[in-house]
Amino acid sequence: MRDSLGWLTPIFPYDKVSAGLVTSLSFLEMRDRMFLKIEGLAKRFEGLKALEGIDLILEKGEVHSLIGPNGAGKTTFFNCITGMLSPTSGRIVFGSKEITGLKPFQITRCGIARTFQNIRLFSEMTVLENVMVGRYIQTARPLVRTFVGALFKGRNFCNQENDLQDKARQLLDFVGLSRHHKRLSRHLAYGDQRRLEIARALASDPMLLLLDEPAAGMNPQETQALMSLIGKIRERGVTPFLIEHNMQMVMGISDHIIVLDHGEKIAEGDAAAVQQNPRVIEAYLGAQASTPDAKAASTTAKNPPSC
Ligand SMILES: Nc1ncnc2c1ncn2[C@@H]1O[C@H](COP(=O)(O)OP(=O)(O)OP(=O)(O)O)[C@@H](O)[C@H]1O
Ligand SMILES: [Mg+2]
Repeated sequence: MRDSLGWLTPIFPYDKVSAGLVTSLSFLEMRDRMFLKIEGLAKRFEGLKALEGIDLILEKGEVHSLIGPNGAGKTTFFNCITGMLSPTSGRIVFGSKEITGLKPFQITRCGIARTFQNIRLFSEMTVLENVMVGRYIQTARPLVRTFVGALFKGRNFCNQENDLQDKARQLLDFVGLSRHHKRLSRHLAYGDQRRLEIARALASDPMLLLLDEPAAGMNPQETQALMSLIGKIRERGVTPFLIEHNMQMVMGISDHIIVLDHGEKIAEGDAAAVQQNPRVIEAYLGAQASTPDAKAASTTAKNPPSC
């Protein structure tokens, strides 16, 4: 940064001024990169504290992963971000807009899309139609016009439908499902259904894509293909944020890992930092972590945070 600002030195000859400028430019760059900011997020279900005091900043363009034992609050966290649940307290800011408490479709329009832990496709629609549904949210056409257009097949309606189909076909190509476009979604293999959900989420042109256990039920080849798909999604300018229990995948693709346990954030950082964090080891292995056998157990315990 300092080198790239060298040409400014004659204009701002004083070190202090240029140092100040560098600092404020770095601040602006940082502000530009951090696009999801969460402050003091809490969610209670009656007496149960599913989330408590979560602060988090996500930067654009990195692969973020959220991990933690079963019941840690990961899906609840995604549900709060996407408006499926209203947080009990706290703030969620996306870009420069506060999105706390907005409805799911409003949050999708702000640029956040998601997939679900339990696949939610329109089982009686074709693969292509499922992706087109994801695109409708961006067309923002009033319901009455849609209805009248569909009834009389007006020119505008047909043009828009063709555009939707083109875009949906491109996305199916992107996730590798083109050849299945005419099939009913319920006839797809499980791993393909997960990729179809990703295509449908991408159809809304998100900036942030939340994936809740995208590798669940996939075989090693499918998981490998999913990892490269997530890389391609990032290259498209969409920031992936995934919940995953497959540690090999998480450690292999994540720039930033956040660990939840009992609704609290207990660690965050890169793969190496998270794997060595004693609180993380404790959360996954419990009391075993302090025994000499803990290391051996870490290779066999369910979902330990190592690759
Ligand atoms: N709608 C709800 N009503 C009541 N309790 C809920 C609700 N949703 C989640 N919970 C509870 O909140 C806690 C966190 O659940 P959550 O589904 O977020 O965990 P998770 O980390 O996604 O777990 P998993 O890895 O098993 O998917 C659990 O104790 C769960 O039973
Ligand atoms: Mg979950």
